Amino acid sequence: MNHFAAADDISGRADLDVVLRRFYTAAFADPRIGPFFTEIAGTDLEVHLLRITDFWERALFRTAEYGRDAFAPHAALHSARALTAADFGRWVQLWRATVDGLHRGPNAERAKAQGERIALALHKRLAGPGASMEGEDGPGFVPLAALELRSLA
Ligand code: HEM
Repeated sequence: MNHFAAADDISGRADLDVVLRRFYTAAFADPRIGPFFTEIAGTDLEVHLLRITDFWERALFRTAEYGRDAFAPHAALHSARALTAADFGRWVQLWRATVDGLHRGPNAERAKAQGERIALALHKRLAGPGASMEGEDGPGFVPLAALELRSLA
């Protein structure tokens, strides 16, 4: 085995704690999507980590409860400043890089696939069904058309 490869799968909450702290630290610092957290929503990182870890633990392992409305905060953001395909593309790129940097295995693949699916669903719901997958400021870092094709496969 490659000594440098991320070898272990995501196996539970302790792993999600590490993945999500790393992901949101990068997301908050990101020039494209960081301001949605830091300037528009004024998100408290520690509070968000507790909630989002429940969300992912529920999604991947069904060992936590999550009963909050995950769409509403994005709708509020979107009305303050449009969330574009490029923003969602950046989110997906950071998510993939974070997961791949720490883990490999079926749960890591599920986490990446679910993140992509949710990004696409949020984008479609915010932008409307007829919306182009390209943001007004050009295509995303990850071509979202490719994600759309993959979600149909
Ligand atoms: C560019 C894309 C995105 C941005 C800028 C963004 C930003 C945000 C912000 C600012 C909040 C509110 C945090 C707070 O202050 O309480 C939030 C909530 C949330 N986000 Fe996103 N988000 C994005 C995409 C996604 C995606 C693809 C997922 C899929 C897993 C996701 C999952 C969630 C969930 C579950 C919450 C609700 C947390 C809670 O309060 O229970 N977000 N997001």
